Amino acid sequence: MTEKEKRLARGREHVVATTDEIPPGEHKVFPIGRYGVGVYNVKGTFYAIANYCPHEGGPLCFGRTKGQTVSAPERPGGAAEVRDGEFIYCPWHQWGFELATGTTTVKPEWSIRTYPVRVDGSNVIVSA
Ligand code: FES
Repeated sequence: MTEKEKRLARGREHVVATTDEIPPGEHKVFPIGRYGVGVYNVKGTFYAIANYCPHEGGPLCFGRTKGQTVSAPERPGGAAEVRDGEFIYCPWHQWGFELATGTTTVKPEWSIRTYPVRVDGSNVIVSA
């Protein structure tokens, strides 16, 4: 069986994991479609994104999750990080995307693809 044949077809629901297999702050990448789909647990809410960066095609799900840096003149350095763990940063050029919506402030028209996720009992189910 080739690597391509092992990949799951897109366009249907996939039971990808149980909730305790992806604890808060963690994620896993599943072989759905051409690039794979990353499923993230952000403080108990699951999100799914394509493992593909719209900038130059980087493997987005291999980047780090963290918060968003905002201006905070009262803080040392004039900046603060908010919404910890709600953004994914591409490992190639560090563009950041909001996991919940797929949007980016770098170039808003280049949002990433997101997929619906639901939890049924202890199963995490992705529609991708
Ligand atoms: S390829 Fe992702 S930021 Fe450049």
